[in-house]
Amino acid sequence: MTAVADSSKNTTKRATGPVVDFADLMQCPVARKPFEHFDKIDELRETDDIHFGDASGHPFWAVTAMEPIREALQNPQLFSSTAVLPDTPEPPYLWIPEMLDAPKHNKWRKLLGPLFSPGAVEALEPKIRERFGVIIDEVAPRGECDFVQDVALKFPNQIFMDIMGMPITDADQFQEWETAILHEGSSASGRALEAMGGVHAYFTDVIAQRREDPRSDIISKALSWTIDGEPISNDDMMAFCLLMFMAGLDTVATQLTYSFQHLATHDEDRRRINEDPSLIGPAMEEFMRYYAFVTPGRKVMQDTCLAGVDVKAGEMVWLPIVAANRDEGEFPNANEVIIDRAENRHIAFGAGPHRCLGAHLARLEMNVAMEEWHKRVPNYRIDTSIPIREHGGQIGLSNLPLVWDV
Ligand code: HEM
Repeated sequence: MTAVADSSKNTTKRATGPVVDFADLMQCPVARKPFEHFDKIDELRETDDIHFGDASGHPFWAVTAMEPIREALQNPQLFSSTAVLPDTPEPPYLWIPEMLDAPKHNKWRKLLGPLFSPGAVEALEPKIRERFGVIIDEVAPRGECDFVQDVALKFPNQIFMDIMGMPITDADQFQEWETAILHEGSSASGRALEAMGGVHAYFTDVIAQRREDPRSDIISKALSWTIDGEPISNDDMMAFCLLMFMAGLDTVATQLTYSFQHLATHDEDRRRINEDPSLIGPAMEEFMRYYAFVTPGRKVMQDTCLAGVDVKAGEMVWLPIVAANRDEGEFPNANEVIIDRAENRHIAFGAGPHRCLGAHLARLEMNVAMEEWHKRVPNYRIDTSIPIREHGGQIGLSNLPLVWDV
């Protein structure tokens, strides 16, 4: 039974039994119909603000309203980032800075902040536009593409290679690894493990090279830092590179794919942004609100009350951001995509100390992609002869077959 706050007596309750199966909700097989994950989270949100569940034998709470999601994200003393997946409350791995708590987290953020500031990101714009230009030059004359493989993954991958100081010729290899790790089923599958091994070996080499021969990229800069008087260890550097790999590539690709899926199926919205490109900025914000695919978790550090229920130290809370972003109490007509929505205080980039470090970069990449694509291919539609699949884990569309007239 779902846990319910008994507001009449101003007391809290515990749920009496598991209802939410995390594996069913998130770690579904590769082939699923589009929007299935969002639909399931919507169903939960419509019944209550918090739900008890089981994640491979571990108790967890699925939180599905803005206020308690924000509360958990903004209160790291009670809700720690040392574990971020409900089925892994004692993770045998570390991602930096994502899985650090204060004070170490603040130290990393202070060092990383300037590299992702609005000014630093602005300086990258010409390169970002040039990279997208080459991609669209290749794709536009074809009249068809799988938007995921041919555009959405390729583009942030190339920018990632640039900022990490890695050769663009290795971008395709990274795209293959990324697809195997995040889009092809369980993270424990043979292909995913093999790909993770490949990424690990690649970064081991790059870190060693940059120690020998520092350049102007993020890895070289980070290797010159000290935290508490100690240089950054190879293990911490690896934990940072792995997080950058997971946070910086697939996120932009996924957001772009949902946005283009929307525009390909909503002629009026597409017409409006073609007629008035200044709508692209607000439209992207609305796509980020509505198609918010990041689902962070936190570990409860002390018994406390969240959304009217008692949560116990050691349990996990799961915070699907889309549930906050579709909360009717926060957004009028929350279930509608309104591309010029007036007030849009979504939390697609998170909230609190772990709010997305790459938010400026992500926004720039997505706006450039939208602008440059629509200059070349203003009208396009879905090729309905090819089924669209959605993957869980990190939610996203696995393919998006688009066609247009040439
Ligand atoms: C549409 C694209 C993106 C979305 C929706 C997104 C969303 C998020 C969210 C929700 C978090 C917080 C997770 C949590 O609280 O546990 C986060 C953290 C982070 N993101 Fe992004 N992100 C995007 C793109 C990027 C890009 C392009 C980069 C860098 C190249 C990046 C780097 C990071 C890093 C390093 C963190 C960890 C911050 C910390 O723990 O202090 N993200 N992102």
